[in-house]
Order: sequence, then C-alpha cells, then structure tokens
Amino acid sequence: MPRIHTLPTSVVNRIAAGEVVERPASVVKELLENALDAGPSRIDVALEQGGVALVRIVDDGCGIESDDLPLAVAPHATSKLRVAEDLERIDTLGFRGEALASIGEVARLVIRSRVPGGDGAAIEVDGGRMGAVAPHGGSAGTTVEVHQLFGNVPARRAFLRSPQTEWSHASEAFVRTALAHPDVAFSLTHNGRRVHDLPATDSWRRRIGDLFGAALAERLIEVDAADGDVSVRGFVGRPEDDVAGTRLQHLFVRGRPFRDRSILHAVQEAYRGLLLTGRQPIVFLRFDLPADAVDVNVHPAKMEVRFREPSRLYRLVLAALRTRFLAADATATRLVPPAAPASWGEPAASPAPPVLFPTSAGGGGVGAAAAPARRPVTAISAAPPRPAWEMPAAGPVSPVGADGDELAVQMHDRYIVVESADGIEVIDQHALHERILYERFKAAVASGGLEVQRLLVPERIELGPGELEIVEEHAPTLARAGLAVEPFGGSTVVVTSKPALAGRTPAATIVREAIDRLAATSAAGGEPALLVDEVLHGLACRAAIKAGDPLSQEEVEALVRDRRAVRESHHCPHGRPTSLTLSRQDLDRQFRRT
Ligand SMILES: Nc1ncnc2c1ncn2[C@@H]1O[C@H](COP(=O)(O)OP(=O)(O)OP(=O)(O)O)[C@@H](O)[C@H]1O
Ligand SMILES: [Mg+2]
Repeated sequence: MPRIHTLPTSVVNRIAAGEVVERPASVVKELLENALDAGPSRIDVALEQGGVALVRIVDDGCGIESDDLPLAVAPHATSKLRVAEDLERIDTLGFRGEALASIGEVARLVIRSRVPGGDGAAIEVDGGRMGAVAPHGGSAGTTVEVHQLFGNVPARRAFLRSPQTEWSHASEAFVRTALAHPDVAFSLTHNGRRVHDLPATDSWRRRIGDLFGAALAERLIEVDAADGDVSVRGFVGRPEDDVAGTRLQHLFVRGRPFRDRSILHAVQEAYRGLLLTGRQPIVFLRFDLPADAVDVNVHPAKMEVRFREPSRLYRLVLAALRTRFLAADATATRLVPPAAPASWGEPAASPAPPVLFPTSAGGGGVGAAAAPARRPVTAISAAPPRPAWEMPAAGPVSPVGADGDELAVQMHDRYIVVESADGIEVIDQHALHERILYERFKAAVASGGLEVQRLLVPERIELGPGELEIVEEHAPTLARAGLAVEPFGGSTVVVTSKPALAGRTPAATIVREAIDRLAATSAAGGEPALLVDEVLHGLACRAAIKAGDPLSQEEVEALVRDRRAVRESHHCPHGRPTSLTLSRQDLDRQFRRT
C-alpha cells in the first residue's frame, strides 16, 4: 500500500470543481447567484453555443474591491460568512466561497468589477492559474465571463451534450432564477439573439407571464396560506390547464429555487382525480419560513434543501391547494373522478342502482367531494337504464368482433365495457384511442407514408418567450411528424400543415403540445429519434377522444375493432393501462359459483 499524503491544492480544487460545475447551466446558476447577492437592479446574461463557448453575466450590484479580486477567485474565500454559526441562518445565495474558484479551475474566467465611486479592476484565471490584477474603467458593478468551459479538461468536456441540450439546461437555470427574483430586471441572449427581456416588477404573476406568456399567467389560481411562521404563496394551474412534463413546476424558498419530492407529492395529492394520468399541474410556489427552519447546505450544487419540519410543509401545501380546488369555479370545466375502486365483488344490496361502476365511491379527496352527480349507464341508444344483469344480449348492444363474439357499450362517457368469450373487459376510451393513433402515426412515419393535410387557412400561433427557439431548433422534427411551422414575424408562427390522422384537432393545439414535449425531452438530453417519438405521443394524446366524450354505438364498435391492431400491448403511450379484465373465472369465484 503506498504511503498516505495530502493532496496538492490544485488537485483538491479540481475535485471540488467537479461537484460545483457540471455543465454550462451550473455556471449560469452560480454566477447569477453571485450577481443577486450583490444587490443589483439589473442582470444581463449572454451565452454562446449553449454556454459552452461563453457565459457572460453583467450586474449593476455592489462590485468587488480591487484588492479583494484575488480573494474572490480563491477557494474557501467569501464575503458572506464569518463564523460557523452563520451557517444556521444563511441569507445570501452563496456561502461556501467555492464557485468562482471552481469555475476558474475548469475554464478561462475573467472578472471585471468596480465598486461605486471606486477604481475598477480586472482579473483572469485560466485553468487554475491566476493572472495579475489590472485596472479596468467600466461602469459600476461586475462582469463575469467564462470562456470555453472544460477547455482544459477534455475528459469532462466529452460529457457535455450538444449545444442545444446545454442551452436548454442553461436557459432553464436562468428561468428559475429570474422567477425567484421578480424585483430584479433580467435579460437573456443566446448567440446574439435576445430570448428574454424581463422588466423588474412587484407582481409575481407578471414575471411568470413575461417568462411563459400572459395567457398562461392570467389563468393561474392564486394560493396563499400560512401555518404559524411558515407560509406558502404563489400560483397553481387549473386542472384543465395541465401540461406534459414538469417544466412548469417551480418551488422556491427564501429566494432560492429547489427540488423537493415530498412537496411535489403533496401537490399531486391535491390534484388527485382532477388530471388525466401522465399530465402534470402547473405549480409556482414560494415558501417563507425562518432561516433556521431550513438548511440550504445539504447539496453540492444547492439544488435541494432540508426542512426542519417537512411534514408541516406537506400538510400546508395539501390543505392550501385543496381549499382552492374546492372553492367553487376552479374545477368547473373538467373533472375526472378517481378511478373506479375495486368493488367488483360487491353485489348490489338492493335492486335500485343500475350502475356497474360507481364514479365516486371510496376515492376520497377532492375528486370525490367535487364529482358531478352520478348518471346511469349511457349510450345504450335510447333504452332506459337497466340493471346490468338484465342487459339483453342483442338489441342496442351489438356484436363487434369479426367472429361476432364481442359486445361493447360505452359507460359514463369514458369507459367501454366489452363482453368477450372469457370475461368482461373495461377499456379506458381515451387511453385506447391514444394508443391506436400513436401506433398508426409511428407506422406511417416509419414507412415514410404519413399523410399530411395542408391547411386551407394556416393557423397562427402566438408563442411565449423562448418557445420560438424551440420551434426553430426542432423544425425538422416537427416536419417529420407532419407539422409544417413557419415564422410569421415577431413571436408569431403559422402552421401550414398537420397530419391527416389528427382529424379535427386544431393544428395550434397539436403544435403547443409538441413544444411542451420538445422542451421537456430536449432538456432531458433527448436524441432525435426520441424527440420525434415524443411529438407523436403528443399528437396521439391531443387527437384522441377524451374521457367525457360521448360516442355513438358505431364509434364504440370501431374503436373495439381497431383495438385488434394494438392488442398485444395493454398500455397507452404514457404507460398506464388501457384496460382492466375481469375473467369469467374471477366473476364465478366472487359470486361463489365455483
Ligand atoms: N457579481 C458579484 N458582485 C459582487 N461580489 C461578487 C460577485 N461575484 C462574486 N463576488 C464576491 O466573490 C466572492 C466569492 O464568490 P463565490 O461565488 O466563489 O463564493 P460565494 O458566493 O461566497 O459562495 P458560493 O461558493 O456558495 O457561491 C463572494 O463572496 C463575493 O464577495
Ligand atoms: Mg457564489
């Protein structure tokens, strides 16, 4: 065994840098935090090549004294903490004195700064080697530039993804930070093009609107609740404004974005039964609590925090959101009650209710409380509802299969119940139709035979900030999925064609869904084939019939027939089941016939 020795500082620093700087997004985050700690009124961010070639952040904050510049880039040097106890009540975003030193290890770092009324100075660090302090005559505040991230560490550079992927992470870091500080003006420029321009505001809704579009912000439901010295404030989306992916879920505590599975779980609980499976609610929540009730020093990149009483926050969020949903109009437009519980075995106590699957029994929570009144079985033409056991084998319910062995009927405008030779199947009409459409889209794209419908009147779409970039970047992917989207000036685009299979679904709806999914998938480093697939999922989801759509008997039968094509797979593209089967054997056993 070789003898133990202390590592040289350069090696220690390089190891520390690995924890702090993972990719350009980490640089953007650290530099933004530094700029914010300097108390600025404005911060301008410019990136080149997704931030790999350059990240430049300019603030008009307090600046750094010339003599302090070498310390600013030295490891474990900070102006924000003095003694260990300060760690118990951190009020600044930075506290470790690590970020600049780490960045200087793995890139060329240039800092120019001037305190108001003082002389400006500049310093450069390249791959851990610090240059001399030089005079600088710029305006008050600080400019930090990071050139060629990992230029001197080829092994780490190899782990960077494409500039587009790095750009989507970096812009996400910008968005989170800008969301947390509406009182500061921000701008973001990529490859010379202005992507965001955010004036300072005292309205959080306004900042959300500037980032994601005014239409989205206007529809948000306000949340404001407190439990002692802990409070949660912000906005959540109406259940019907759900989205694909988690791009619109943002949590903040004391000016800091953070991730927290427990709080998001509370949110999911509050929405339980109100969203289609696989869809996500929009969430912007800000927690206020005393500094010593949260520990921000638990994650190397400060992405997570630890609360002293996590269960108190969980309960607060759940209660705050539920109160909002139960308040009259928030859910009026669409309610999906909780999935039917497993009450199969219970024979009806009296002959009265002719309902096979109660809509609200046992589900509990919001859905049950706000569920619409139960209706009897629908879509058996005009026949009066009958108890299931009296259902005739012929008449309004007709055979579907080529061999005539299946009977199918729609129930509750969302399920199709099929009687087959060996039992009963309950099919989720949306999930099934989505699956069928997805398979067709996929086959058509694979064979190059996707039929495209040119729109007589092209549909115009007003895009939110940042979305134009997504459309431009992914135009080839959209085109492969039959969507021709062209620029129309400003942030407007026009859709001139859509896949014929999309039927009557407006092109704008499909394109919006595609943008959502492309943003989420490319942020996750999605490969081109995956991106096309994701757009096809979106097409299928949007074009499919929904829960709540009444179907004619012919439509029911067509769906059940089409199902043969996707029979081997019992899952919709989201991975949730399309059907439940109750075998004859199960039934006989439940009724003690065996
Ligand atoms: N934009 C800026 N304006 C004013 N001072 C700055 C700026 N950026 C950095 N500094 C100074 O440089 C010091 C070192 O910054 P650095 O980011 O390395 O550490 P930190 O912010 O103190 O802690 P952390 O590692 O947690 O970010 C800061 O403490 C601050 O005094
Ligand atoms: Mg810092």
